[in-house]
Amino acid sequence: MTSSPALQPSLWYKDAIIYQVHIKSFCDSNDDGYGDIKGLISKLDYIQSLGVTAIWVMPFFDSPLQDDGYDIADYYKVNPNYGDIEDVRELVREAHARGLKIIMEMVINHTSDQHPWFQRAIKAPAGSSERNFYVWSDDNKKYDGVRIIFLDTEESNWTWHPEVEQYYWHRFFHHQPDLNFENPAVEKAIYEVIDYWASMGVDGFRLDAIPYLFEEEGTTCENLAPTHAFLKRLRKYVDEKFHGEICLLAEANMMPADSAGYFGDGDECHMNYHFPLMPRLYMGVAKEDRTEIVEVLKRTPEIPENCQWATFLRNHDELTLEMVTPEERQWMWNHYCYVPEAKQNMGIRLRLARLMDGSYRKMHLMNTMLFTMPGTPVIYYGDEIGMGDNVYLNDRDGVRTPMQWSPENNAGFSHATPQQLYLPVISDPEFHYETVNVQVQENRSRSMLHWMRRMIEIRKSYQCFGRGEMIMLEPEEKNILAYVRRYEDEVVLVVCNLSGRATSLCLPLESYEGYKAREILGGENFHDIEESYRLTITGWGTYLIEITKRANLNK
Ligand code: NOJ
Repeated sequence: MTSSPALQPSLWYKDAIIYQVHIKSFCDSNDDGYGDIKGLISKLDYIQSLGVTAIWVMPFFDSPLQDDGYDIADYYKVNPNYGDIEDVRELVREAHARGLKIIMEMVINHTSDQHPWFQRAIKAPAGSSERNFYVWSDDNKKYDGVRIIFLDTEESNWTWHPEVEQYYWHRFFHHQPDLNFENPAVEKAIYEVIDYWASMGVDGFRLDAIPYLFEEEGTTCENLAPTHAFLKRLRKYVDEKFHGEICLLAEANMMPADSAGYFGDGDECHMNYHFPLMPRLYMGVAKEDRTEIVEVLKRTPEIPENCQWATFLRNHDELTLEMVTPEERQWMWNHYCYVPEAKQNMGIRLRLARLMDGSYRKMHLMNTMLFTMPGTPVIYYGDEIGMGDNVYLNDRDGVRTPMQWSPENNAGFSHATPQQLYLPVISDPEFHYETVNVQVQENRSRSMLHWMRRMIEIRKSYQCFGRGEMIMLEPEEKNILAYVRRYEDEVVLVVCNLSGRATSLCLPLESYEGYKAREILGGENFHDIEESYRLTITGWGTYLIEITKRANLNK
């Protein structure tokens, strides 16, 4: 068997819509205050009802939870707060029964310092393979100048280990030592882990922090050639073993040219987040100007046919501003941090709804861009109902609070006493769980939830969004972002008003002159396309216009 991309029987991830969930935050089935796998299973019907096609499940491994599970203490055990292996098997079965794929988190750059590999390393003789599962140094000057990611908490990428009397390398928290991928035994151990979970039936892995696997003096220790070589080996391995069915999603927060490197020639990761696009969507709306959005899309290279960007508005981390200039970053902080606590590391720890001032129109606008731009959209749990956040909680906890199901106690998330919850529910008057919750929104036809369902349905009805080309139209009005998405016979014109001002505009659409136009969301026919197509659009308004040939025209 070869590792050729042709091996992939389906490119499901290209047409997917991914829903990101945190088990801890979704539903508590045993009333201990923590969400659990059984709780998630009980809510699969809800997830299915959204119309999404895949679930990205955040880490559920055994872990001291000092980084919410991104600090793995055992790759083969489930955190007992969440359930056990049998629960995971059932989750996979039940998700598949509903046509939902499961993408699970795979943190391979580092482990927890509680992991037996690390505990073994500190006891093992210097120079042994066991010691060298991690990266050690006698001094903390090696790889000098490599940036620190968790700027608010860490002062160095090295931490002294008194027992070993050496420093160990870590790109994230000091309790997360980096694995040493120079050691072939590490690579082997990671393949075994991947084997185990893939054999259970999961459909994909999100490869956390993948650019940092290898280190080399005199470099940034990011995106190094050996990291790409490793990914090619890993891809070949999973392709061969699992018949091309496993999807690899890279977390590589880079500018598009670098991050496209993680697709290789279609022989590394299938998917990769488009990190730089995300802050520019927020910047576009804040500045009422499309320039930066257009620019980053122009800078986005073509990617291999079998690959796909993953696009997103928010996730479980701070809204990262690493990929904008220092001036833009400061501008974004000034604009969006409504209190100083909202600023975190190089980002902003707020949810979409807060960033959009609780405005449905602005949330619709952001989601319209998300659902119609090239890539596979990823929705962060709770954003489909416009859930709020709590900046006064520790670290990134403010965007990881319990899912709000109903106006009942604990937002219907748990029957534990409120003080027992892993985090308090959102009680800020603007986003209070008694108003912002699934039950209330199910009963209101104009709710955010119903709008999201409709948008997802539209997204699924047109392959041009997942697969088509994008033709940017650049009308005079800078507050207007307009583009055509085209795939085979399908043509959809997307128009977004990034400002609150109603605007009249003209779009250059000569190649579709005489074609029919129908606005998809409302189902209304618009006037036929003219060489220069005039439209009026309300503040923060959007149009999705299907363009079709008239039967009697030969165009
Ligand atoms: C990226 C994850 O998204 C983040 O939550 C985590 O803290 C770091 N990687 C370290 O694993």
